[in-house]
Amino acid sequence: MNEVSTSLQSAMPALQARIENQLKHWLPAINKHPGYLHEAMRYSSLAGGKRIRPLLIYATGIATHQNLDQLDGLACAVEFIHVYSLIHDDLPCMDDDDLRRGKPTCHKAFDEATAVLAGDALQALAFRILSSDPAMTDDPAIRLKMIKTLANAAGSRGMAGGQAIDLASVGKTLSIAELETMHIYKTGALIRACVMMAVQNQPSLSKQQIQKLDHYAKCIGLAFQIHDDILDVEGDTHTLGKPAGSDLALDKPTFPEVIGLDASRARARELHQEALQSLEQFGDEASLLRDIADYIIDRIH
Ligand code: IPE
Ligand code: IPE
Ligand code: MG
Ligand code: MG
Ligand code: MG
Repeated sequence: MNEVSTSLQSAMPALQARIENQLKHWLPAINKHPGYLHEAMRYSSLAGGKRIRPLLIYATGIATHQNLDQLDGLACAVEFIHVYSLIHDDLPCMDDDDLRRGKPTCHKAFDEATAVLAGDALQALAFRILSSDPAMTDDPAIRLKMIKTLANAAGSRGMAGGQAIDLASVGKTLSIAELETMHIYKTGALIRACVMMAVQNQPSLSKQQIQKLDHYAKCIGLAFQIHDDILDVEGDTHTLGKPAGSDLALDKPTFPEVIGLDASRARARELHQEALQSLEQFGDEASLLRDIADYIIDRIH
């Protein structure tokens, strides 16, 4: 039921606790074979994190008058794909970072092979949930649509493709358009999928409502990665829970590097405004979505 408040500040802890419980429900137990792999999957998945993607799924559900119980599986699937992307992103062959969510990265706490496999298994778990969660929609066509949406968002034309562009761009100067494309792929695609899968669960929405929600998601998805780039410059390691200055050290093309900090902040604010405009036809039921847009460009970690 939609018992949650529409203000992010009061809704966030309850929704974060909700997703935490759901993740625990799906994660394999450490006493099940192979325990070491399961331990790594649990270590990275239950190690904190803002849970912004699950929050977006629930907020879209609230904005479109849905029963949130049907959305728990979607929230877990997306968070597991996200955690897998973080584990692989931190590997020595990618960003080679030692700290994530305030703790040693998966390959540091375990070993590289286990980190690769934990990511692989989390990705598989995401699709197991979408294909088998009994609490989700009982319409198989909708379920298939969601599976396709998440597969596209995680694959070579989404997150994984964006990560490939990111790695191929080290030491290069990208144009703003190229940089935006990379960010839309590596981060925007999964954020957009959160909103779109929740939208797919509500067949009564009009074409125009769907377009508006999709546009909102596109704008905040790009703004999210621009702000992440800004935090890499402005944030401190303790607050971020991951190493500040990592992009600069690796010579990554980022918004601050290509257009400067002020212009990056301005671009994030512009996208934030565009996202809010997309929600104009929605009433109070979309206030959590509006709060998430604010949070994305104001957050300090
Ligand atoms: C970090 O994502 C990786 C990016 C896509 C920028 P988050 O900032 O959502 O990380 P957690 O989940 O809160 O740790
Ligand atoms: C990573 O971008 C995006 C992912 C798909 C994981 P970053 O490499 O900037 O993410 P952080 O800063 O390490 O969290
Ligand atoms: Mg990276
Ligand atoms: Mg990284
Ligand atoms: Mg970053």
